[in-house]
Parts: sequence; C-alpha cells; structure tokens
Amino acid sequence: MLMEKAKMVSLQQYSPTMTKDYSRISDTARAMNAMVLPRMLSYIRRISPQIAAMSADEMFVISDFGAADGANSSKLFEAVIRRIHDVNPMLTIKLVYIDLANPANFEAFWETSTLAKLNNVEVQYIQRSFYEPFPEIENKLRIGFSSTALHWMNAKTVGTDYFQHPLCIQPNQLPDLERRKFAEKWIADWRSFLKKCSTSLVKGGALFFANLANLGDGRWPASSGYNNLMKICQELFEEKKLSEAELNSIFIPNYFATPHEMSRLLNEDDLKCFAVNACDSLTVPCAYFTKAQHKLDNPQERSRLAATLAHVTRAWSESSMRIGLKADNKELIEDIYQRLQQKFYEKPEGLSYQYCLLELVKQI
Ligand SMILES: C[S@@+](CC[C@H](N)C(=O)[O-])C[C@H]1O[C@@H](n2cnc3c(N)ncnc32)[C@H](O)[C@@H]1O
Repeated sequence: MLMEKAKMVSLQQYSPTMTKDYSRISDTARAMNAMVLPRMLSYIRRISPQIAAMSADEMFVISDFGAADGANSSKLFEAVIRRIHDVNPMLTIKLVYIDLANPANFEAFWETSTLAKLNNVEVQYIQRSFYEPFPEIENKLRIGFSSTALHWMNAKTVGTDYFQHPLCIQPNQLPDLERRKFAEKWIADWRSFLKKCSTSLVKGGALFFANLANLGDGRWPASSGYNNLMKICQELFEEKKLSEAELNSIFIPNYFATPHEMSRLLNEDDLKCFAVNACDSLTVPCAYFTKAQHKLDNPQERSRLAATLAHVTRAWSESSMRIGLKADNKELIEDIYQRLQQKFYEKPEGLSYQYCLLELVKQI
C-alpha cells in the first residue's frame, strides 16, 4: 500500500541539477581546485614533448564532467591552458563542459569568463548525463576532470521507486545492510562511467577526479546538512504536513563511496588500461563555518552563518527534495529550508567535504 502511494508522488525522474546560484555559494567545493592544480601541472610537464609536437590543426580536448555552470573549474582551467600554451601557443584547446543542466547558466558564465577571452580556446557545452556515451570526444580526450559530481547515481537505469526509504533521505545514513544495494548500484555506475572515459581518452590521456567520499567513522560530506534535512522530514510528517508516501519518497540519489570502492575496480580486466597515479583521501573544511566559528556568540553572525549553511545545502539538494513532494505540496520546500536555517542557528555545524582525489592515466 505504501509503495503504491509512493509511486503516485514520485512519477518525475530525478535530475539532480543545482540551483542557479550554486557557483556563488560553493566555496568549499571550489577550494578543491587548488589541490588538483599541482597534479594537473605536473602531468602537463610530463607530456610537454607531446604537446610541443602537436600541430596547429590538432586539438587538445579537456572535459569537465558535471561542470554545473562552469564557473567553479574556471581558475583551474585557466592555469592549465596558460601552461599548455607556454609550451605550444598555437595549439587549439577545446573545453567540453558536460552537465544535465540547461545550457543557459553555462552561457551566462561563459559570456563574461576570462577563459572566453583567451586565444586559441574553443568551447562546447553538452547537456547530457555523464553516464551516456560521448561520440563527440571519442579517442580525442586528453584531460578529463570532474569535481564534486560523480557521487550522483545514474537515475535512468532504475525506476523512481528505487530511491525510497521511510526514514532516511540518503544512502550514507543507512545501516550497512540497507546501504549495500546503493553501494552496488554506485559501483556499477562508476564502472560504466570509467569504461566510457577509456574510449574517450587518447593513449596517455589522464583523468583527474575529486570525488566526494566516505572516509569512515561518520566522516562523509555535508553530513550535517543531510541529517538535518532527514530530521525535518520526520518532524513535518509528525505534524501531518508531509504524507507517509512523501516521507518515503523524499530521497537524494547520490552515494559517497569509500576510496577502496572507487579504486578496487581498477584491477578489473576492462579497466586495467588505467595506471593509478594517485588515490588520496582528504577533507576540505567548510569554507563558511571556518570563517565564522569564532564569532558565534554574536547573534547576527550566528544567524548569517545559519542562513549561508541552509543556502549551501539548498543549492545541491532542492531539485531532489522537490521530486518527493506531491504536486500540490511543493510550496512546503520553503518551510523545509526555513527549518534548516533554524536548525543551523540552534546548532552551528560546518559542511565539510571529504574527497578522494584520483589521477588515472590511460596506458594502452
Ligand atoms: C555539486 S555540483 C558540482 C559542480 C562543479 N563540478 C563543482 O565542482 O562545483 C554537481 C553537478 O553534477 C551534475 N550532475 C549530476 N548528475 C549528473 C549526470 N548524471 N550527468 C551530468 N551531470 C550531472 C549536476 O547537475 C551538478 O551541476
């Protein structure tokens, strides 16, 4: 009975796109680029002889999988492009941005971007799931990059009722046994994504992935945001503002894998083409909490931080939360994020991001 009702509320397919202002409220994710840059630059240094030998009619293709509007990777790409052009100024560099989101946000970013003003840079935005094939870049890709995106599962390979739970709203909140089905799905998605990347890459091409990760002992990304949202859904259910079917349907379809879950597939025959140059675990502290944590006795500062943390959480969770709400109950979304702000005010907690940073090079 519960499942039948749940089906009625979640007929829409998940498309976990960010709110329009995501890149203005994602300083913690953006901080990751500073950790990726030295790795990319040392890779460029290693392949400098090949770059120098490329002719002006060849293209150096760089892609960003799950780029959002493109703003967050722009400083990283600018530094990489400048370094490539130091070696071969006439070489055309093509940036391929891939995301589910409507291109309008990307177009607005690109219009005023420094990248657009660089010489010998071309751009393409592809509105498609990164789990789909990319014939446009087959055997052309030289650097594939993705940050803070590959934890989103492929929602197209399962029915909407796959992502449901009566209490929790995200797989990392579940006990081991219940979490397993999501872990297996994420691993299958990751395998298919890596296989597609291997057909996109040229020999010697590299992948740099900053994947949100579960580092154990309760250390998983933005857990305070997810856990507060879960509590709010339970409160709203008790207050009869959320039906049982909606409570069951509200779910955020991503999974934070452990570094071991990410790397162990690379021993499989189909993926042995990759040399693993790095598989590093690290935590990026919450950019907003870090700045405000010594001023929290001041109610104004505390209130500003609470609003910011709710805003950050909303940027990446709203599209998924809405899917679980009935068509005539969508306005509850405002109440949900008001309550979230209140919870962060009562108990200020940062949204730190745990990552596994992978560098893979295609050898054959
Ligand atoms: C948290 S944002 C990260 C954006 C940016 N890379 C950054 O580092 O800030 C995740 C992005 O992944 C995109 N995304 C999620 N699932 C996707 C999929 N299957 N295919 C393409 N993009 C996807 C979302 O639309 C969103 O823009």
